[in-house]
Amino acid sequence: MPHKDFIALHDFSPAEIQELLDLSAKIKRDRAAFRTALAGKTLGMYFEKASTRTRISFEVGIFELGGVGLYLSPKDLQVGRGETIADTARVLSRYLGGLMARTFGHDIVTELARFATIPVINGLTDYNHPCQALTDYFTLLEKKKRLKGLKLAYVGDGNNMCHSLASGAAKTGVHFVAACPEGYFPRPEAIALAREDARQTGATIEVVSNPVAAVTGADAVYTDVWASMGQEAEHAKRVKAFQGYQVNLELFGKAKNDAIFMHCLPAHHGEEVAAEVCEHPRSVIFDEAENRLHCQKAVMVTLMGGK
Ligand code: CP
Ligand code: NVA
Repeated sequence: MPHKDFIALHDFSPAEIQELLDLSAKIKRDRAAFRTALAGKTLGMYFEKASTRTRISFEVGIFELGGVGLYLSPKDLQVGRGETIADTARVLSRYLGGLMARTFGHDIVTELARFATIPVINGLTDYNHPCQALTDYFTLLEKKKRLKGLKLAYVGDGNNMCHSLASGAAKTGVHFVAACPEGYFPRPEAIALAREDARQTGATIEVVSNPVAAVTGADAVYTDVWASMGQEAEHAKRVKAFQGYQVNLELFGKAKNDAIFMHCLPAHHGEEVAAEVCEHPRSVIFDEAENRLHCQKAVMVTLMGGK
């Protein structure tokens, strides 16, 4: 696959996304077969923000592929004292086999990728979260045995998750509908890009305000926190703005009767999702969390030169 970096699903063709999904399935089926795929390689893991799933799934993932993960924080690196991102990227490239980065600004990840000579993997920015969305379409495929023609309803904030899910839907032929309150719609450029990509697969990408309309007939209902990392000060204002957008049993009940519930986690029970929906027999939230491990191994193996 002719890619150095994994920055956005948009950069990958539908066939390349399918290849990553196929490799993820292979890795999940036969974990032991990939024990030496990245033997001796070190993955740097740069985190400006907190993380449970991303940090641990990448660290365990690289370890299970025969390599080692190195946690890096701007608090400890010289970048926190003014060393440039460009210099940091070039220095890290002399030591590491790959760099995963979770940042506030999306431009930090693109700058790292521009200057690094090693693969850079986006572990979430304020703009997108491609590792999570790849995993979510893997999980949806695992549960429904197909992707093309399914309907995924996203309810809540038009945030980084919403952008990457729209992009992934476009690449996999899933009909994507986001229901967001006025003022919290996804960025128009992310939707425009997804609509452009959707032409290759027949997917449709819609943004509406009515959650019931979005969820009706959906195969999967997805939500994410109302205040993302970095938006803590807006929490109270957002809780008010998102009233009526909680995925509770009543709203989930409007979806197909075999619909699954999805969430990238962490979840705020009683805010964007009712606890009963998280605990519902058709909630797949912990499968999504597990699948981060398998899908990110596929990304690392593909980019970092393993078999
Ligand atoms: N879903 C996700 O990326 O979780 P973390 O913030 O715990 O990494
Ligand atoms: N939108 C959330 C996703 C967390 C995985 C955030 O950015 O905090």
